Amino acid sequence: MISTIDAQVVNVALGERAYDIVIGRGIIDGAGERVGALGASAAAIVTDDAVGALHCERLAAGLARAGLRVERISVPPGEGSKSYATLARVCDSILAARIERGDIVVALGGGVVGDLAGFAAAIVRRGIRFVQVPTTLLAQVDSSVGGKTGVNSVHGKNLVGAFHQPELVLADTALLDTLPAREIRAGWAETVKYGLIDDPAFFAWCDANWRAVFEGGPERDHAVAVSCRSKAAIVARDERETGDRALLNLGHTFGHALERVVGYDPARLIHGEAVAIGMAQAFRFSSTQGLCPPQDAEAVETHLRAVGLPTRLSEIPGGFGGVDALVDAMAQDKKVVAGALTFILARGVGASFIARGVPVGDIRAFLLAESAKD
Ligand code: GLY
Repeated sequence: MISTIDAQVVNVALGERAYDIVIGRGIIDGAGERVGALGASAAAIVTDDAVGALHCERLAAGLARAGLRVERISVPPGEGSKSYATLARVCDSILAARIERGDIVVALGGGVVGDLAGFAAAIVRRGIRFVQVPTTLLAQVDSSVGGKTGVNSVHGKNLVGAFHQPELVLADTALLDTLPAREIRAGWAETVKYGLIDDPAFFAWCDANWRAVFEGGPERDHAVAVSCRSKAAIVARDERETGDRALLNLGHTFGHALERVVGYDPARLIHGEAVAIGMAQAFRFSSTQGLCPPQDAEAVETHLRAVGLPTRLSEIPGGFGGVDALVDAMAQDKKVVAGALTFILARGVGASFIARGVPVGDIRAFLLAESAKD
């Protein structure tokens, strides 16, 4: 019998690959029962040294109580672990631990660990089952759901990877209590994104309730559940991003380019911060193109600033290397087709849309104006 401590369950309706996202405080203590119910005999927990020290023992003990043989694989924390070298080490460790196809890889950590462990699970033995136990807000509302896995290349972020859906996501919102405030803010950018895409009521809710979410009240579970429901609906109708799923990239074409020009240096910018600047830019660009009322672009910026997120190029410590570097970085993104860029633009808060074929010249002019103003 699986314990039901105040958990909310969101299903990702992908036919025979459908799975549940279980959300709630303390649900990691029921992980053994839930993972055990998947019918594996062994589990390899992939984590990083920082998260592992906080939560791995508790997770491993629960899995062992459920009768699973448990192996642990740890990588250094940080974006640097989304590399070929670390991927090779994780794959070899999974094989050395004799994890078979019917066994489970459990990703315990934030977006880096989830993407890395998920990709290892996708390719070792041509596919091992996996479970996500996200430990950051960003991973709980976004990266642990939907099956995108991968590592970075010298050519850009997430350029080598695979779609490989987890069989279960366990989002224990109490694990966020130990997260640094900066990480919570960064995850918030991906949370409020769902309001900006197509849910103006959720944007208003976020604006009214973000403090309670940060403090760990019941509003936190609500924010994670709404985000996961939005993402699950999009993934269910467009698993491989041939259409609507691209909406989830709101702020990401600008954001990925910013991360690249700062050399993925977390002292300068972390992913959610880059997305915050990117979303503010997407709304400002939409406004300068006459697509979106200026007051909507202002509302987005006001909210992000209230939370403590950056919204302007001038807020990047050490600068961003100039408009040419930024435009070059965008040209390597996965969203480039025949030299024109795909952006997620907006007609207003909650009215985002996919804009294909945005001329690079328009983006360059916008960025020049932004950098001169800042
Ligand atoms: N993080 C964007 C997506 O999963 O599609």
